[in-house]
Amino acid sequence: MKKGFFITLDGSDGCGKSTQAVLLAKRLKELNFDIVCTREPGGTKVAETVRKILLHPKSRISPIAELLLYEACRAQLTDELILPAINSGKVVICERYSDATIAYQGFGRGLDRNIIFKLNNIATAGLEPDLTILLDISVEKGLDRAFARGKDRLENEDFVFHKKVGMGYKWLAGKFPNRIKVVKPNGTIEEISERIFNIVAKQMKITKNKL
Ligand SMILES: Nc1ncnc2c1ncn2[C@@H]1O[C@H](COP(=O)(O)OP(=O)(O)O)[C@@H](O)[C@H]1O
Ligand SMILES: [Mg+2]
Repeated sequence: MKKGFFITLDGSDGCGKSTQAVLLAKRLKELNFDIVCTREPGGTKVAETVRKILLHPKSRISPIAELLLYEACRAQLTDELILPAINSGKVVICERYSDATIAYQGFGRGLDRNIIFKLNNIATAGLEPDLTILLDISVEKGLDRAFARGKDRLENEDFVFHKKVGMGYKWLAGKFPNRIKVVKPNGTIEEISERIFNIVAKQMKITKNKL
C-alpha cells in the first residue's frame, strides 16, 4: 500500500484553521498532490449529523457524553475517510483531531487525560498525524474573531474555559515537539500560509526543485 501523509491543523476557536486549510490544500494541489480536506467533528454524513448536535447552542450535553460523541465522530471519520485516503497515497488535511479532545475535554472540562488518550487511540485505530500545525493565537484574539461570526455551544463557554483550552494546547506542544509545530498566526493570511507551507514542505521532504 502507498502511504500518504496526514496533516492536522489545530488550535483555539478563531485561530485560522479553516482559512489556512484551504490555502495549504491549494498549494499542495499545485504541486500535484492528491488532497483530501476534512474537519472534526464531521467530515462524513454520520459525523456531520453529530456535529450539529455537538455545536448547537441549545444542546445540553454532559461532559462524558460530549467526550464520547467526539470520539464517535473521530472513529467514523478515521474509518470511512482518513485511513482509506492515506492508504491510497493521498495527503489528508484535517481541521482538529485527537489533540482537540485533550485540550477541550481534558483541560477545558477537566476530564481524565489518560482516559482521553486511551479513547483517542481506540477511535483512531492508533493513527496519529504525521504533522500537526498548532496555530497559537491568544484566547482573546481568537474569541473576538470567532464571536464575530456567531457563537456555537463551545464558543459560548466562559473565558476561563477557553484559557484552560489554550493551556492544554501549549501542554500538548511541549509533550509532542516532533509532531506538533507551533505557528504564531500574526501577520497577513498569506504570511501565515507561507510559514505553514515551509514547515509542511520540510516534513513531507518536498525537494526544492519541486517548488
Ligand atoms: N491572519 C488573519 N488576520 C485576520 N483575520 C483572519 C486571519 N486568519 C483568519 N482570519 C479571520 O478570522 C476568522 C476566523 O478564522 P477561521 O479560519 O474561521 O478560524 P477557525 O477555523 O480556526 O475557527 C475568519 O473570519 C477569518 O476570515
Ligand atoms: Mg473553522
